Amino acid sequence: MRILLIANAFNSLSQRVYTALRARDHHIGVELALGDDLLRARVAAFRPELILAPMLTTAIPKDIWSAHTVLIVHPGPKGDRGPSSLDWAIHEGESEWGVTVLQAAEEMDAGPIWASVSFTVAPCSKSELYRNEVADAAVQAVLLAVDRFADGGFEPERLDYHRPDVRGQLRPYHDQRIRRIDWSADDTGVVLRKLRAADSQPGVLDELYGREYYLHGGYGEDRLRGVPGTVIAVRDGAICRATVDGAVWVPQLRPRRVSGGPPTFKQPATDALGRDLPASVPEVPVTPASAAVRETWSELRYREEGTVGYLEFSFPGGAMSTRQCRNLLAAFQQAVTRPVDVLVLGPARDFFSNGIHLNVIEAAEDPAEESWLNINAMNDLVEAVLTTTDKFVISALAGNAAAGGVMFALAADEVWCRESVVLNPHYRLMGLHGSEYWTYTLPQRVGATEAERLTQEALPLSAGDAAALGLVDRVIPGSAETFWVSIRRAAAELAGSPDLTNRLVTKKQRRDADEAAKPLASYRSAELAQMRRNFFTAGEPYHEQRRNFVHKVRPTRTPPHLLRSPIAAS
Ligand code: COA
Repeated sequence: MRILLIANAFNSLSQRVYTALRARDHHIGVELALGDDLLRARVAAFRPELILAPMLTTAIPKDIWSAHTVLIVHPGPKGDRGPSSLDWAIHEGESEWGVTVLQAAEEMDAGPIWASVSFTVAPCSKSELYRNEVADAAVQAVLLAVDRFADGGFEPERLDYHRPDVRGQLRPYHDQRIRRIDWSADDTGVVLRKLRAADSQPGVLDELYGREYYLHGGYGEDRLRGVPGTVIAVRDGAICRATVDGAVWVPQLRPRRVSGGPPTFKQPATDALGRDLPASVPEVPVTPASAAVRETWSELRYREEGTVGYLEFSFPGGAMSTRQCRNLLAAFQQAVTRPVDVLVLGPARDFFSNGIHLNVIEAAEDPAEESWLNINAMNDLVEAVLTTTDKFVISALAGNAAAGGVMFALAADEVWCRESVVLNPHYRLMGLHGSEYWTYTLPQRVGATEAERLTQEALPLSAGDAAALGLVDRVIPGSAETFWVSIRRAAAELAGSPDLTNRLVTKKQRRDADEAAKPLASYRSAELAQMRRNFFTAGEPYHEQRRNFVHKVRPTRTPPHLLRSPIAAS
């Protein structure tokens, strides 16, 4: 079927829907919602049999939805309406929520219902929920709705608030008055819900040291206590603020834009506060091993089960700054000294990695220099994984990865991926050649021709597409939690397998042979020569593209790589 996807942005959910429909051999077009006339022109040119809006906050013009069936994905259960569904769900502590696919009609979110799927709300931020439970339910609901449409004869259900399964309601925009934290009264549970309902956008507006900031991210703390509202500790760029009955960690802040001032963006909290942060606030570090048995905020956790070591990392937005790469490298080097045979790398949920930290680079005094430091720190980390020959290393992707983050995953011996993961193994859209030894790992896995196609086409791949190409080794269905149950079982089996010694010997032989044929240092220097040009030569597009990304500048037209839309991955 010819299906046109219309979305505000080609974001994670749109990419999930795109890859899922492409896998079913539908012919998919993508158009960003950048104006009614542009939409009309694309609809006329594409001639869709069905229009689907996986993520749309604006109305589709009536002349389009009256001439075509237009299905809208709404992140709420049947009957839920309004622009802030997930914010309300998290704010009110809902345990079950849903995704509904409705037909576009005169009244927003009130059209006939084609499918609705429920899910359990995980205790995490809105955007993490969106990329995980919401995305899984949305794909299920979309596939159901598309099948129903294709079969014909399905009568979509009219919205009827008298039906017992219609439990949603129309709710207003969730504004900053509702989000405001009363530090003298709100307990930790309430504070966390407010922070999580506002993350990643728009954040909770608050005041720190006489200036206004949006607070981003919210994690619990089991030990630290203090005067409610005050900053009582810092750790790895995050701040810890006391509540009336505990404390919470806030990893990122965005200064409120002052009228007439430059636009602002999210930064590690301590960077955003700068000199305003009193020297008396202590840095309270935690080791990866101790963080693993505590309820506190930590970017790194390490635990062992038998002869398997698990190095868990988790970076907001999957972005890895110079500091974060170096800390992860130190934790990896420490893990390598442990008496384990198998090392599993990856976050418990959400993004595996999205490469170098474009916001930290944007905020740096010299962004080109910081880009250089960051890519070198990333390369040091990737090199450490590539050259570890006495352990079997697995990258476990419970969530998405892009650019250098995909290439980082490829440094491991095997890549195990949750079925719902979307991979973007390319750098071109950021104006970069890319490094992370991708010129070594990617062609080795998929061949030179596919490597060229993937990096130039710049389109997302599902885990299934990636497995078909040899980019990933195992695809595991289910939620992030069931994914980790399977990973632990498979890693333990591998560690106990009589075959492991042979595999490690083969691995070492292969690395030695590869090194003799072409040293890793040659790959690195050739990649970095190109990256140096990207970072330091005038006229290169990278700095402008990074700025646009960080400041969320919307394109004026659907980018050309989305207009080409091949039918299916080979
Ligand atoms: N540096 C800084 N922030 C990053 C980032 C990076 N490399 N990659 C993602 N983020 C942030 C986004 O700004 C966004 O922040 P927000 O939640 O405050 O809006 C958040 O992480 C999630 O990303 P978003 O773009 O909303 O998610 P998505 O699932 O729709 O798209 C990507 C995911 C990876 C395709 C997209 O974020 C991307 O292109 N990132 C840049 C990748 C890159 O070029 N890295 C540098 C080269 S190695």
